Amino acid sequence: MAVAWVTGASSGLGRQIALVLHEAGWQVIGGARSFNDETQQAFTCLPLDVRDEQSVAAFVQAAAQKYGPPGVLVNAAGILTLGACEDYSMQELTQVMDVNFYGMVRMVQAVLPLMREQGSGRIVNLSSINGLMAVPFQGAYTASKHAIEGFSEALMMETAPFGIQVMLVEPGDHRGGKQQYRTSSVKCGDCYTQSRKNAAARIAKDEAGGASPDILGKKVARALGKKRLPPRLRVAQPAQHAAVVLHDILPNRLFMKILSMYYGIK
Ligand SMILES: NC(=O)c1ccc[n+]([C@@H]2O[C@H](COP(=O)([O-])OP(=O)(O)OC[C@H]3O[C@@H](n4cnc5c(N)ncnc54)[C@H](OP(=O)(O)O)[C@@H]3O)[C@@H](O)[C@H]2O)c1
Repeated sequence: MAVAWVTGASSGLGRQIALVLHEAGWQVIGGARSFNDETQQAFTCLPLDVRDEQSVAAFVQAAAQKYGPPGVLVNAAGILTLGACEDYSMQELTQVMDVNFYGMVRMVQAVLPLMREQGSGRIVNLSSINGLMAVPFQGAYTASKHAIEGFSEALMMETAPFGIQVMLVEPGDHRGGKQQYRTSSVKCGDCYTQSRKNAAARIAKDEAGGASPDILGKKVARALGKKRLPPRLRVAQPAQHAAVVLHDILPNRLFMKILSMYYGIK
């Protein structure tokens, strides 16, 4: 039976991907720092903190012992911080990069020897529409998702000769995540307060009207059923697809002006 390891499997999109794969007959092992009872009853759950190399090594060892090496690794662990670029402390920036980017790198580096040895494997990295274009007051998150995009493209080329395929998943807004945004500290008094409030309200509204995680879970499972993984799977609403296209074809200044108006930047 095919084996899938899924990070960030306690909540939101990671949990949904794990559930859909489990229902489709995969042996799923989910990793996160804490799981509720319902999730633990649905599929095998192991403790994992992607910021900690020892925790990653322990997860890999325990998971490989249970069902053998994974056919698929899904990297869905992630956090989101709202804040002005000027305000982020280095510690806050590092936290976001440590989970979203370095956490993914730690997992990838830990599974690649297993996948190379078996001569096959698939790695699915959760990026975002923010991996393709920035959103104001999500500077740290946007940077981490751009890093995932670049790293994953390099990974695709380097690992293809070993029979390993890599897919970037680029979700737009989805409902049902933990929605626990960390907000950055504020260094410059009131200078960004109004813009930040407006942007936060817009972001919350867009997420509340976002797609069902179930659709994304099914699309990821369908892609994994194919012989060749698409390098990118964008799962977004039409307006977000359009925004990515406009980002690429409109003059930069015009595009950013439109986006700034949309997010209420004053
Ligand atoms: N939801 C959306 O609209 C959306 C849009 C675009 C991209 N994405 C991406 O999709 C992924 C899932 O997002 P989501 O909104 O579904 O998030 P979520 O519900 O907040 O879930 C995040 C998951 O990451 C895990 N996690 C956080 N820190 C971790 C750590 N240090 N080690 C291991 N696991 C950790 C959490 O588990 P614990 O806290 O229990 O460890 C949780 O399972 C993220 O990469 C996110 O950037 C989401």
